[in-house]
Order: sequence, then C-alpha cells, then structure tokens
Amino acid sequence: MTARAESRTVTLLADYRPYPFRLTETRLDVTLSPDATLVRAGIDMAAAPGAAGADLVLDGGKGLDLRHVALNGAPVDPTHLRRDDETLTIAGAALPVGPFTLETEVRIDPAANTSCEGLYLSGGIFCTQCEAEGFRHITFYPDRPDVMTTFRVTMRGDLPVLLSNGNPIRQEPGLAEWHDPWPKPSYLFALVAGDLVAVPGRFTTRSGREVALNVWVRPGDQDRAGFALESLVKSMEWDEQVYGREYDLDVFNIVAVDDFNMGAMENKGLNIFNSKLVLASPETATDTDYERIEAVIAHEYFHNWTGNRITCRDWFQLCLKEGLTVYRDQQFTSDLRSAAVKRIEDVQTLRARQFREDQGPLAHPPRPDRYEEINNFYTATVYEKGAEVIGMLRLLVGDEGYARALDLYFDRHDGQAATIEDWLAVFQDATGRDLTQFKRWYTDAGTPILTMQEHWQDGTLTLDFAQETPPTPGQPDKPARVITVALGLIGPDGAELAPARVLEMTEARQSFTFEGLAARPVVSALRGFSAPVILRRQMDDATRAFLLAHDSDPFARWEAGRELAMAALLRAASGAPAEDAALIEAMGRMLADEGADPALRALCLHLPGEEEVAARLASDGITPDPDAIHAAREDLARRLAQAHEVLLAGLYERMAVDGPYRPDAPDAARRSLRLAVLGLLSRIDGGARARALFDAAGNMTERMGALSILVRLGQAGAALRAMEAQFAANRLVMDKWFSVQVMAAPPADAARIARDLAALPAFDWRNPNRFRALLGGLAANHAGFHAADGSGYRFYADWLMRMDPANPQIAARMSTAYETWPRYDEGRRAQALAALKEIAAMEGLSRNSREMVARMIAAGRPQDEG
Ligand code: TRP
Ligand code: ZN
Repeated sequence: MTARAESRTVTLLADYRPYPFRLTETRLDVTLSPDATLVRAGIDMAAAPGAAGADLVLDGGKGLDLRHVALNGAPVDPTHLRRDDETLTIAGAALPVGPFTLETEVRIDPAANTSCEGLYLSGGIFCTQCEAEGFRHITFYPDRPDVMTTFRVTMRGDLPVLLSNGNPIRQEPGLAEWHDPWPKPSYLFALVAGDLVAVPGRFTTRSGREVALNVWVRPGDQDRAGFALESLVKSMEWDEQVYGREYDLDVFNIVAVDDFNMGAMENKGLNIFNSKLVLASPETATDTDYERIEAVIAHEYFHNWTGNRITCRDWFQLCLKEGLTVYRDQQFTSDLRSAAVKRIEDVQTLRARQFREDQGPLAHPPRPDRYEEINNFYTATVYEKGAEVIGMLRLLVGDEGYARALDLYFDRHDGQAATIEDWLAVFQDATGRDLTQFKRWYTDAGTPILTMQEHWQDGTLTLDFAQETPPTPGQPDKPARVITVALGLIGPDGAELAPARVLEMTEARQSFTFEGLAARPVVSALRGFSAPVILRRQMDDATRAFLLAHDSDPFARWEAGRELAMAALLRAASGAPAEDAALIEAMGRMLADEGADPALRALCLHLPGEEEVAARLASDGITPDPDAIHAAREDLARRLAQAHEVLLAGLYERMAVDGPYRPDAPDAARRSLRLAVLGLLSRIDGGARARALFDAAGNMTERMGALSILVRLGQAGAALRAMEAQFAANRLVMDKWFSVQVMAAPPADAARIARDLAALPAFDWRNPNRFRALLGGLAANHAGFHAADGSGYRFYADWLMRMDPANPQIAARMSTAYETWPRYDEGRRAQALAALKEIAAMEGLSRNSREMVARMIAAGRPQDEG
C-alpha cells in the first residue's frame, strides 16, 4: 500500500502543456461483442509546429488488449513501442515526417466492466461513458479535452439499434456509420447499441434546420418518455430565445440506461441519461422527479454550446462548462416555473451540499489547481458554486453587460477549448470592468462569513460590514473578495424607503451610509441570496417576523422565516426553554395567507433539516449532538401542529388537487403545501391522514409523501408490502422503496434497517441507483448515520469497500458522507475516523477512494496543511 501511495501522481494546473501533435480526424470501427469487442482506430495527425521528433504518448491502460499498431499502413516495430499501466508511447524516431495516420486495433471486454466508465453493458445495452477519462478504456488516444477532431464511426453488430455522435450516414442490418462534423474531444464520444425503441419528435430551428429528435428507451418504457421529449423541445426553444443558440446537427438522440454513475452526459448529439432522469409517469414519478427531468434534459442540451462547441482546455477548467451550464439550467427552470421557488430551492441545495463541502476537509475552489483523480472534482463547488459565481458576475455587470459578454464568448471561443481566464476576459472586454479581484471566487476555496452591524443616528443608517473566510486545506490565508450585497430598506409600515441596490464590498471591512431617512428602517440584506456567503447579523424574532411579513423579496422573506425556525431549533437543541411564540404566530399567518404561492408557503413550513442545524451549531463553535437535534426538531414540529391544528386541517382539505395529474408548477405547488401540512398533522393525528392518503393517492408524489410519514411513525408495514407487490418489476420505484425506509426511519433503527434491506435479493448493489438509494438514504438520516454507537459509520464503510473494486467512482463519491466527521464529539469522531482508516488500509483501494479518504483523514491532523 505504501508503495502505491508513493507512486501516486498528482496533476497540477501549473504543469499544463499543449499536446505536441495536431489531430484532424478520428475514424473508429467498432465490432460489438459482449466479451470481445474489437476497436480499430485511425487517427490523422501531425507533429505540432516546433514539436517535430517528439514521442507520441497515448492514454490507454492494461484493459486494452493491443493487437496491432501501424503508421501510414506499415506495422510499427515493437522496439519503438513502450507500454506502462496508463500509456502507450511510440518513439518519435519512428514517426513519419509531416502528416500521418496512426492505426491501432484493440480488444476490450465490456461485459466484465462494472465501473460504468468506458464501454460497458447496462441491461444488455452497450453504452459508453467517456467523461472525464473513459475514452482511454476504449482505445489508445490523447484523452484530454484540448485535443479535438471530427469523428467517423462505423459500428458492426447484430443489434437492432446502433447509435453514435453526429449525423447518420449509413444504416443497414448489422451496420451503421456516423459522422460528427464538429471537432470534439474524446470525452464527448459516445456509442449505444442494443434493443431500444424511439419516442420520436421534431424540431425546426429558427434558421430552418429540421432536427429529428428521439428519446430511446427499452421496449415497454415508451409511455414514460413523453415528458422528457417535451422538455427537450422547450430547452431548444429557450436556448434560441434567451441565448440565441441554435442546434447544429440533423438529429438529437437521448438514450436512457439503468446503470449510470451520474445524472446524465452531454455527448455530442447523443446524450446518455440515467433512466431516472428520463422515465416518468404519474404513477411512478414524483413532482420533484418531473422537475429534475426537465432541468437535466435542459442542462445536457445547453451543454451543446456551453461545453461542446466551447469546451475546456483541461479538467481544472471544469466549472467553465459546468458552472455556466448549471447557471443556464437554473435560469430555464425559473423562466418555466416559479423564479422565487427555484431560487430558494437552489440556495437550499447550495447550503446543504456546497457550504458543507467548503467547511470540511474536502474544500476546494471552483477552479482547483491540483487533483489526483479528476472524477472526485465533479462536486457541488464546481457545479453549484460555479453557477453562483456567474450570478454575481451578472449582478456586477448588469443584464445587458452579461448578454454582451456571452455573445462575445460564443463569438470568440466557438470551436475552442477555453479557460476561466478566457471567460473573465470576455466580461472585461465587453464591459470594461476589471475582474482581477473577482477572480478570487474561482481560485479561493471557502465560504466567506459576512458580518453586518447597524448603527442608527439622526436619520442616518450606517452598515458596517466585515468579511472573513476561514482557512481551507492548502489555503491558510484568504484575501478579501468582491461581495455583492443586494439590499433593501423597509420602513415601519412595510414600504421600501429607498430604491433597492447592490452594494459592492471589496475590502475586508467596509461601511455604507444611508442619509436622510425619516425613520429607522429594517434592513433586508443579501436579497435573492446575492452572494454565496454566510451572513451574520444580530436580529430578534420580532424583526425576523417583520421581514417574513413585509419583505418584497421572496427569498429574503423565506430566509427570515427560516431564521425564525432555526433560532427556535437552536434553543431547543441546547436545552433552553421553548420560546416559540413568534414562530407560531408567523406560521399561522403563513398558513392563512391564501394570496401567496402555495409552493412558497410549503417552503416556509418546512423546518430546517437536522444536518442544517448541526452545521449551524458547528459554525458557531458548538459541538452538535445529533440525537438532541433530532428530538428538538420532532418536538418543535409537534408544538407547531398543536398550535395550528384547525388551520392545518382546513388547509389539508383545501389543497387537494382534483382532476387528472399534471406535473406543472401550480399543481405541484398545491401538492407540496398539502404534504408539508400533512407532515405537521401527522405529529398529532396518529398517522390517520397519511394512511388514508397512501391508500387513495393516484400519483407517486402523494404516495411517497404519505409513505415517508408512515415510515417515520413506524406504521409503514402494509404500505411497503403493497408498494412492493405493485412495483417489484419497476427499478425506479423500488429505488424509492429502498431509500425511504432508511431515510425516514427512526434514527436508532436506521443502520439495522439498512442492513436488513441490504440482505434482500432485490438489493442489486452493483446498480448505482440502487446502491445510492440505500446508502444515500442512510447518509440522509442524520442522527441515524451519526449514531453514537458507530453502527451507521461501520455499515456504510463495509459497503464502500465492497463497491470500490467494482465501481470506484461511486464508492469515492459516496464516501463524502463522512466529510463532516470533524465537527462531532470525541466518541463519534473516533468511530468515523476508524471507519475511514479501515477503508484507507484496504488492499487494492482505487485511486478515487484513496484520494477521498486521505483528504478526509488529514482533517484530523492538528496542523492541517492540506
Ligand atoms: N458532464 C456531465 C454533466 O454534468 C457529468 C457526468 C456525467 C459525469 N457522467 C459522468 C462526470 C461521469 C464524471 C463521470 O452534465
Ligand atoms: Zn453538466
């Protein structure tokens, strides 16, 4: 193990060098067979100017059974070839002068590939996943994003459907030929082959190109693919209208597969999706599933411009495409649904995942400068914080400046592999704004803590701000950043006293003054969550309640309610006497406010989660006690229900949605409010309503809502059996069945229940969705995962160690459940650290997991140097 650890290679941004060869076309000829697929590659290339004589180094590991290498048709003498674990090198001396063609032939074994990377089989369907470095498991190639070529692909195999990137050239039984005219890096390559059926559609671009759309699914799943297709059409329309971006091929194919490491993948013209993000029917998918399908279809489609036409120079620039594409899919959802609801949901996700990452041992900047395994950097920081940073840029340069900068970006960099420097340069050039300091958001890790103090004297309000970013691994000192603080001043009668504005903070300490005010205003700060920071300010419950009632910014209103509930929870979790009057009154107003969007009211009714409370305590320097937090939250929910029983019961009846199920925002909003209300009522009605709803519900949203409550109450036996009987053959529904039993379980039982479920034949653990359902369910049960006896940590570690050899990406990604370990008490810390060390000591542990557990263990060192 030590030897392996020492031979570990770290990749550094500072070491970037252009590839010494220029590639123009790649021809692949793939003969598909489950355990012996033949891949013949022909690559046209030439040494880059000034690089004549350089060795030709191709990525490709031991899994490639090399049969043949030729240059311009002549076999290469073996003395000119060198192989190691990760590369094939052809000596520069053997290379022809001028342009040449390299031909290779390799044999690979897709059936033995359980990693969901490279070429593999999912339910009998051949499919590929090449991002980030999967292409090297298919053939020898310069597998890096700045090497771009056109592709011609010939596929052979006795399979009904043969798909690859680009446009179809030839289709006949057993053979298909595809041509992708847009130069692309290897990570965007894809092929799919097998027994699939298409749900077809059409789209005409605004310049008149006719595009054939297809959503490919397994026979029998066609009736669940319609929503995905509709979402694709909406995405294509939106990108034309809002960004002026048109589609650029004759076909756009989407394929749903059951075994997939992430959500979906933007391969050029051939997006491959986790089936849970394609297949939906009212009986099998929830409102949340529908919303996610719409957003991810859009995300992958939007990548065609932000990712494919303009790609990344190297993987350090990942947020160039991911942050921007998340930003774009967030805009899309706000335009189609409710902007206010979407913003609140996004902030909740950011705090739950990215702030958590930033505050723990895995903290890294949106653009990291070193990695061991790039797959470990597809993170909330790169994706979600990457999107937040763009939101701030937009606030700084205005909507028009943003539009001009984006037009310049597409103009200047189309067809290129670009960097964050390029991205910032288009903003500087389009708007004249100096972004030198702003760039720190990309290069510095950590969540700034922004303190605000108010001083009022004789009609003048002074706001004193101070920013401080705690050290993160490898970055002890954090210079001040540009922080955009959207601000409103609200008078005693609830009216805005001054036009809303955005303060630009650039110093560590900075004051802003507002003069000539008739009365002391209530300050609404960080409206719309204008910067990804933690805002600390002294505020009493009365002021919070005032903002909740009067703020014109829906995010700020929600935030005020959240703070009210958080304050009550913090008091309860620390054993202080309950003091809920302000919260109870505010909740009452919310319940009675028939004018407000039911979705917003639902968001306001949800109490902060246990993990969120633990994070708050930890950032206040208090060691969180998961059991006390759980008890405090349960208690508070019961007191709220008791206080508002009549209002809640009435609302529960009124929010029932009749008529056929529609997944649109208005209906989903009513269901979400109804389920939030049911959650509270279940604390005092013995579960009667949840049982009745589970039996009567005609859609999965209400069924799952009711089921989750029944699991919490320990009353779910019959419901779970009914669901299993009805849906045993539906993987996606059974994933929900697994996860809810662990996620909503009483914490003391969670690990035992997880263990029992893992012993069932239906626990097909190699399927990433099934594994995530069970393990992710446990990780989401805060007090269950962090059980004081260590049962959660141990069970979880056992399964990570089982998964790692089969699918390192999934094992490494799921290991982040432990990332908060340093914040808990001695006993829990010792248990968690023991689990991490056991994983670290495992024979043959993957590079993926090794890097993750090493970073997490390092947090225990007294002087952390990263
Ligand atoms: N580029 C994909 C997206 O965000 C992410 C992705 C899909 C991915 N599959 C992957 C990343 C496998 C790493 C490994 O849209
Ligand atoms: Zn993406």
